[in-house]
Amino acid sequence: MDNSQAAALWESNAQAWTTLARAGLDVYRDALNTPAFFEILPDIHNQTGLDIGCGEGHNTRLLESRGARMFAIDVSPTFIRHASQHQSIHHSIATAHQLPFSSNTFDFATSFMCLRDFPDPHQAICEIHRILRPGGFLQFSITHPCFTTPHRRLLRDTNRKAYVLEVGCYFDNIDGRVESWIFSGAPSSQLQFQTPSFHRTLSQWLNSLIKAGLTIEHLAEPHATDEMAAQTPHIQDTQVAGYFLHIRCRNI
Ligand SMILES: C[S@@+](CC[C@H](N)C(=O)[O-])C[C@H]1O[C@@H](n2cnc3c(N)ncnc32)[C@H](O)[C@@H]1O
Repeated sequence: MDNSQAAALWESNAQAWTTLARAGLDVYRDALNTPAFFEILPDIHNQTGLDIGCGEGHNTRLLESRGARMFAIDVSPTFIRHASQHQSIHHSIATAHQLPFSSNTFDFATSFMCLRDFPDPHQAICEIHRILRPGGFLQFSITHPCFTTPHRRLLRDTNRKAYVLEVGCYFDNIDGRVESWIFSGAPSSQLQFQTPSFHRTLSQWLNSLIKAGLTIEHLAEPHATDEMAAQTPHIQDTQVAGYFLHIRCRNI
């Protein structure tokens, strides 16, 4: 799959995704993934940041609320139209492969669950390295490459409690397999997102950062505590294996 086909799929999801996410149905994001991301985020007060693959803009707004001057890009015009309702953030339609900014511009860059969504993450990581000023950092989240594998099956016991995750085909490079799914919190309906999936191994991700000249400084694998799982049963399955990987790296 090429960049324009992947971008077209994201555009086709954007209206429904925005509606459902704003109705609180992106449960993994709201109950686990975004709070965990902010727990490890350095102080960004008075800094200038770029959020890559901002979607409808929820996480960019949280970054701004921490005192940063925010810019945000997304490849989907519909996502950018919705995100732009918040006018103090500078939004642009652009691809992560070719960022429309000068070199050494940003104190930090973030990307929430986006860098696995298009064909060439290494090109995007090199672009992010280019726009970061020396000393600036990139913090991003992706689905965990070791546990979101081309073959993946979650097993539940008779009480619907997840207890085993079967993974496989880890070394298969998947280049744009279209997956149909919907937020687990969404009521069952005919509607399904169609998202392109690009699988890379853990060593491919880490070597890509190293090759781009970034220094890895923090890793996290967020998962629900028993208390969180009791409060939000949808995220209990994140106790079985790492669903998300958070990485912070720096342009030293
Ligand atoms: C899983 S969604 C995450 C959205 C948002 N960051 C969030 O956490 O709610 C992935 C986002 O990446 C965007 N995206 C996909 N390919 C992209 C590319 N090549 N350049 C920029 N954004 C891209 C999609 O349009 C979508 O908004």
